[in-house]
Amino acid sequence: MATEKLWGGRFSGDTDATVEAFTASEHFDRRLAQYDIAGSRAHALMLQSCGIISEADGLAIIDGLDTITQEISAGRFQWSAALEDVHMNIEARLTELVGEPGKKLHTARSRNDQVATDLRLFTRDAIDQLQADLTALQRALVELAEGEAESIMPGMTHMQTAQPVTCGHHLLAWNAMLDRDWQRLADCRRRVNISPLGVAALAGTGFPVDRNMTAAALGFDGVSGNSLDAVSDRDFAIEFCAAVALLMVHLSRMAEELVLWASQHLGFVDLGDAFCTGSSIMPQKKNPDVAELVRGRSGRAVGNLASLLVLMKGQPLAYNRDNQEDKQPLFDSFDNAHACLVVLAAMVPNMTFDRQRMREAAGRGHATATDLADYLVRRGLAFRDAHEAVGKAVQFAESVQRELDALSLDELRGVCELIDKDVFEVLTLEGAVHSRNHVGGTSPDQVRQAVAEARQALADR
Ligand code: ARG
Repeated sequence: MATEKLWGGRFSGDTDATVEAFTASEHFDRRLAQYDIAGSRAHALMLQSCGIISEADGLAIIDGLDTITQEISAGRFQWSAALEDVHMNIEARLTELVGEPGKKLHTARSRNDQVATDLRLFTRDAIDQLQADLTALQRALVELAEGEAESIMPGMTHMQTAQPVTCGHHLLAWNAMLDRDWQRLADCRRRVNISPLGVAALAGTGFPVDRNMTAAALGFDGVSGNSLDAVSDRDFAIEFCAAVALLMVHLSRMAEELVLWASQHLGFVDLGDAFCTGSSIMPQKKNPDVAELVRGRSGRAVGNLASLLVLMKGQPLAYNRDNQEDKQPLFDSFDNAHACLVVLAAMVPNMTFDRQRMREAAGRGHATATDLADYLVRRGLAFRDAHEAVGKAVQFAESVQRELDALSLDELRGVCELIDKDVFEVLTLEGAVHSRNHVGGTSPDQVRQAVAEARQALADR
C-alpha cells in the first residue's frame, strides 16, 4: 500500500514511482534532522505561548520530538522516500507517535520557512566548525614560523629566485591568508544568522505568531524583514560556499608549495612519513599525497559555488523546488573544507625544514642583486642607473659562471666604481633579510614580532 502523503488531499491516485524517486530528498536532507527538530520545538513552544495550540498539545509535540531525536541517534528511525523529505518524515512519525497534536505542529508554518531555517542553522554550525578548524591550523603554522624565523630560503616571483626571505615569513604569509578566511566566515555568519521562521509559505501567516520568540530560542540574531525574500533566497549559502571556495583556493596554493618543497629537486621540507604515501611499483617513493589531494579537492569547492550560483540564477520569487538542490553542494563544501583543514593541522607540526638546502638554494640566482642596487642608491646613484649597473654585474657573473657575491671587489668596481669593500656585507643573505626590518618585512625580528601578534590574535578570538 502506498504511504499516505501529508499533502495528499487534493490528489486522486498514487504518485508515479519515478516521480516519487525523483522528487525525494530524504536520503540527503535527513542530515538536517537535528536542526529540523530544533526548529519544530521552537515553533511548537511559540504556538503554545501565543495561544495558537493548547498547552497539552505543545507538551505532546515536544515529547514526541524527544522520542524522534532518540530514534534517529540510535539509528532506529524508519526513513521513507515516499514521505519525500526530512520535514515530512519527522512530521509523519510525530503524528504516529502522539496522534492528534502531531497534526497541529505545521500550523502557521510551511516547509518553505522550515527548510530555510534548517539550512541557516546548519550553515551557522558549519561556520563555527570551520572557524575552529582554521584556528587550529593557524596555531600550528604560527608555531612552525617561530622556529623558522631565521631560516633563509629563496623568495620567488615567476618561480624564479627573486630575493631571500625567511621561511618563518613565508609561513606567516599563509597564516595571513587563512586569517582573512576566518574573518570572511565571521562576516558571512552575521547574514546567515537571521531567522526566516514564521513567514510560512511566502506571504506570512494570519496566526498571531511571535517570530522573535522562535528566533531567540534558536539563537538567531534577528528575524528576516520580508517573507518573500526569506523563503526564496539562498544567498547566505552561496556566500558561505564562496568563502569556502576562497579558503580552499588558499589551501590549494599552500599545498602546491608543499609539493614543490618536498620534491627532491628543491628538498626544502620533509612532510613526515606518517603524512606521505608510497608507490605500488616504485619502492623509493614517498609521495606528498595529502597536499595533492587538498589541491585537487579545491576544485570541488569552486564547483559547489558555481552550482549554487547557477541554481539561484533565474529563479522568480518566491520558493521554487530548484532550491532542494542547494543541500548537496553546501554539505560537500563544508565536509571537504573540514577534512582538508583537519589533515593539514595534523601534518604541519610534523614538517621539518632542511635549512641547509633552503639556504643553498637562496644562494643561487643572484638573490641579493636588489640589495646591491639599493647600496648604489645609498651612494648617490639614481635607482634606474643602479639597476642598469647591477644588471651588467649579473651579466658578467653569469658569463664567468659565478654568483654575484663571489665576484671580487675589482670585478665589481669594473661595473661601477662607487662600489667599496663594505659591499660584501650587503651581498650576504643574512644582510639582505635583516635589512628588511619594517612592519610586513621579512627580517627575523619582524617575524618574531608578527608571531607574537598572531599568537595574541588567535588567543583573543
Ligand atoms: N525538500 C524541500 C526543499 O529542500 C522542502 C521544501 C518543499 N517545499 C515545497 N513547497 N515543495 O526545498
